Amino acid sequence: MNATAEAAVRQAVEGFRAVHGGEPAGVWAAPGRVNLIGEHTDYNDGFVMPLALPHTTRVAAARRDDGVLNVHSADVPGDTVRLHVAKLAPGVVGGDGGDGGTGGWAAYPAGVVWALREAGVFPGESGRAAGGADLYVHSDVPAGAGLSSSAALEVATAVALDGLYGLGLTPERTALLCRRAENEFVGVPSGIMDQMASACCTAGHALYLDTRDLTCRQVPFDLAAEGLRLLVVDTRVQHALGDGEYARRRAGCEAAAAALGVRALRDVPYGELDSALARLADPALRPLVRHVVTEDQRVREVITRLDAGETRAIGPVLTAGHASLRDDFAVSCPELDLVVETAVAAGALGARMTGGGFGGSAIVLVEEAGAEEVGAAVTDAFAAAGHRAPRLFEAVPSEGARRLDR
Ligand code: GLA
Repeated sequence: MNATAEAAVRQAVEGFRAVHGGEPAGVWAAPGRVNLIGEHTDYNDGFVMPLALPHTTRVAAARRDDGVLNVHSADVPGDTVRLHVAKLAPGVVGGDGGDGGTGGWAAYPAGVVWALREAGVFPGESGRAAGGADLYVHSDVPAGAGLSSSAALEVATAVALDGLYGLGLTPERTALLCRRAENEFVGVPSGIMDQMASACCTAGHALYLDTRDLTCRQVPFDLAAEGLRLLVVDTRVQHALGDGEYARRRAGCEAAAAALGVRALRDVPYGELDSALARLADPALRPLVRHVVTEDQRVREVITRLDAGETRAIGPVLTAGHASLRDDFAVSCPELDLVVETAVAAGALGARMTGGGFGGSAIVLVEEAGAEEVGAAVTDAFAAAGHRAPRLFEAVPSEGARRLDR
């Protein structure tokens, strides 16, 4: 354990003791992510390439044998939320009152327990003793910043419960159960990218993932060795996927796939894009299809470049991806556009929004020598435009979900 992990474990253990009394059986962690390329492709069965951030959500946990789930977050003011595992249902979190509503943060851990119960793997099913847990949550993944704080909370909860009860979950199964929690229990129609990133990423790599069959490849992504940096710029414009715009894009893509007679937009070959667009009667669907099909192609191009050792050449592909998200998919915002324009003008190799959009964060690929200048240019441009100061940090490709106290 390094010093940072040690401090995080100590904090989680002390927090657990203060809130729940007694000792946790362990401390587990799951990271947030940025996505390098492949945006809004995951619910179209397409390709993505996320990497895990060093920022994690930690869960200190202990078993209970009374079917009660007590969840406490150090990051959200309020009391411990007490829930009954057997009563959990979408829309009915099953608490004793307090902040147990499906809209609250507790819906994420509760949704994971519900998904495990529905899958028949949580103790209490099939005549086993009623399982429960005391959970203490603490996170440094910025919330609402498009960096997958929700997936980090879900996956950290799942790996903690797996650790407590020996559920034998693979990382892929963990990701699928967590997505089910988010889709069906919390009610956000997200794809599988964020949960797979949090569960499966490894340090020093980006995860090249086919979201149709979940096959993935760990792609070495050691920017420091090449004199490069990947900056994250959190615009601090709060993004919320639950507000309907994300769901509308997803519904539009599904309608377009149906109109084109394919299972998902991934099945429209890049070389047949123009004829597919011409066949679409509804003009509103065309830019959605153009984005998804060209974005899958950009993922292929990035993987080709990385495999050839031409990391710098991915810069323009990232910037082209931003233009597509801004102009065709219409999920950017003025602050994200300002990051990209300013960074590229200041000499960055490429930049794009990352995650769902409508606010949140952008990534910027820069030469190490120019990183400070590019960061300062973005900060100055925000001040000049009267925007809140953005938060900048480096994306160092980090480890996925793991037990932290061993
Ligand atoms: C959010 C969703 C993901 C993915 C991205 C856009 O992060 O949770 O499933 O759709 O938006 O690429």
